[in-house]
Amino acid sequence: MKILGIESSCDETAASMIEIKNGDMKVLSNVVFSQIDIHKKYGGVVPEIAARNHIIKILPVINEAVKKTKPDVIAVTAGPGLVSSLLIGIETAKTLSYVWQKPIIGVNHLAGHIYSSWLEVKKKPTFPILALIVSGGHTELVLIKSHLNFKIIGQTRDDAVGEAFDKVAKMLGLGYPGGPAVSAMAAKFYEQKSISKKIKFPRPMINDDNFDFSFSGIKTSVLYQIQKDKQYQQSLPEYCAAFQQAAIDVLIHKTVKAAKKYKIKSVLLAGGVAANLELRKQLGENIKKELPNVGYHIPDLKYTTDNAAMIAAASYFYARTKKFTPWQKIKVDCNMKLKSVK
Ligand code: KG4
Ligand code: ZN
Repeated sequence: MKILGIESSCDETAASMIEIKNGDMKVLSNVVFSQIDIHKKYGGVVPEIAARNHIIKILPVINEAVKKTKPDVIAVTAGPGLVSSLLIGIETAKTLSYVWQKPIIGVNHLAGHIYSSWLEVKKKPTFPILALIVSGGHTELVLIKSHLNFKIIGQTRDDAVGEAFDKVAKMLGLGYPGGPAVSAMAAKFYEQKSISKKIKFPRPMINDDNFDFSFSGIKTSVLYQIQKDKQYQQSLPEYCAAFQQAAIDVLIHKTVKAAKKYKIKSVLLAGGVAANLELRKQLGENIKKELPNVGYHIPDLKYTTDNAAMIAAASYFYARTKKFTPWQKIKVDCNMKLKSVK
């Protein structure tokens, strides 16, 4: 089966063709047009500008992904995301579904992030699975007992972790998007081993008896400390490393605790913040130490930030149920919840 995936939920216009043979997923093309350079000067994504650029890019991106092969199924992100951005992907997918007479599947963006761990892998995750989704809009721990059987057991009560990275970067004058900028700056601190570790930030909710998160307090603590420290510009690597470590510690602590409680067999790390090398490394080390029999799965870096291959991957499991929605009924749902399919 060949699936065309289309993703336009935020500021990436993406299309991908994947081929599934005996359950193995091969990525035939993975085209992503990132609007980061366009939104940089505004310090964040401007929805109206994002939508206009999706309109310009969506057909060239799809053309490049499809080449001459027609897919058997069209998969498109239906939510959650920016309504004006989602609409461009959905309307394009509906038109292609009508013209090519191919079934269409509306995919949850978070299910896409989860299923990025099935793309081009030799060893697939085994159930029960715990997914830690960390992105610009979400921080969620999802228990998955079988395909498409999702239960959110923890989530952020305020900012998403990627959002906290972006806001801290803004405060420190590091630009947008903040995640890569903060992590690159933090890496400098690890290289300069001579600097003392004098800056510390709180680990909110780390010992609470639940799997929820809170990141806005760490962010505010960064703000208070730089207001007091007249020379903070000289310690940017240390500020970034201390902030990053506070966020990573909470994520790891809760993930390992949940994996133990639910007797998990595989832990997945997904979403844009999964591109963070320290998080990838430290979560792996902790799982190896505390849960040596649990598998640890992280997608290739190109599938962590928003892409359409992950949307196509998730859609395969919906397509297997053959419960297609007629193209006339596919709708954008900007607050779409991660629902199980029975
Ligand atoms: O999944 P994604 O591409 O888009 C959403 O669905 O939100 O995630 C984007 C988020 C941004 O907040 C960005 O700053 C963060 O992922 N990010 C990172 C890194 N690379 C991207 N955060 C921390 N470290 C990184 N290396
Ligand atoms: Zn995303």
